[in-house]
Amino acid sequence: MQSLITLSTRKAVDAALRDPRLEPPPPPPSIGHGATAMLRASMARFSSGDDHIRRRVEIERALDGLEPKVVMATAFEIASRLFVVESEVDAVTDLGCGVPTETMLTMLGVGGDRSVLAGDVRAVAEVIGRGAVASDSSDAAVERLLDACADIGCDPVAVVSALYQTYDATAALVIETILARHRQSVRKPAVTQTRRVASADTAIGGVSISSGTDVLLDLAESGFEFGAGRHCCPGRAIAEAIVDGIIAAMDFAGIVVHDIPAVVDGARPTSMLLARLP
Ligand code: HEM
Repeated sequence: MQSLITLSTRKAVDAALRDPRLEPPPPPPSIGHGATAMLRASMARFSSGDDHIRRRVEIERALDGLEPKVVMATAFEIASRLFVVESEVDAVTDLGCGVPTETMLTMLGVGGDRSVLAGDVRAVAEVIGRGAVASDSSDAAVERLLDACADIGCDPVAVVSALYQTYDATAALVIETILARHRQSVRKPAVTQTRRVASADTAIGGVSISSGTDVLLDLAESGFEFGAGRHCCPGRAIAEAIVDGIIAAMDFAGIVVHDIPAVVDGARPTSMLLARLP
């Protein structure tokens, strides 16, 4: 049996993302059996077939009322407040992770302590997105988030899923946008790859893929930064509005990149200090 195939041309990645036999990967053992595992198992992102269709409808319903202009204005306001309150702002942690999450909590009408909930979204992203081991504290974070989303009139799992999906991808988009402006270069793709597993034998562009094979899809090379097909990103316009709001707030306050410490995660800096123009 083949173990891993990588696809990177636009045609092959597009075909793979539309092939129902290539499904999102199963849960890793590190996810455990608690609330974090239950959340992952209920997300559209990791579902197939009719389950996916049903869960996708709930996500679209949760995002439906979010008007990009209002999202942009909200991100602008949240980022501007940060520039006034904080003497030193980090583009990665404060702008990339913090502002989009707070913007989404506000836009989705999630009540409660915003800083606790933002920490909870990070905890979920660390386990489900980055593969950290699930723990009592990630399970408690999931439960707090679901509780906070219980009364807002949308499916709580869909709302928490949207918050989770916002976290790392939008942080990456913020960072790459700021970096490209700083370097006066073309922005690099924020999401570079995704994975599927063949649930049955299939073929993409004449290449046979047998059941059980892991398929790595190069989204950067193929130009599908926001995915394609059934699982394509439903948050694209919202994410772009958040980034526009952050950049507008930086320009309005005269904030520029001051220092990029040489610590990188892959090719992306883990810290990027900002400063006000003299
Ligand atoms: C407000 C911010 C965002 C929200 C609410 C959001 C929401 C989502 C959701 C719910 C999904 C799963 C859809 C499904 O499985 O049917 C998804 C998928 C995806 N999103 Fe986003 N997203 C956001 C930002 C971004 C950004 C900034 C990027 C990249 C620049 C991105 C790239 C993707 C990609 C590539 C997928 C497909 C993954 C795959 O097919 O394996 N998202 N997004």
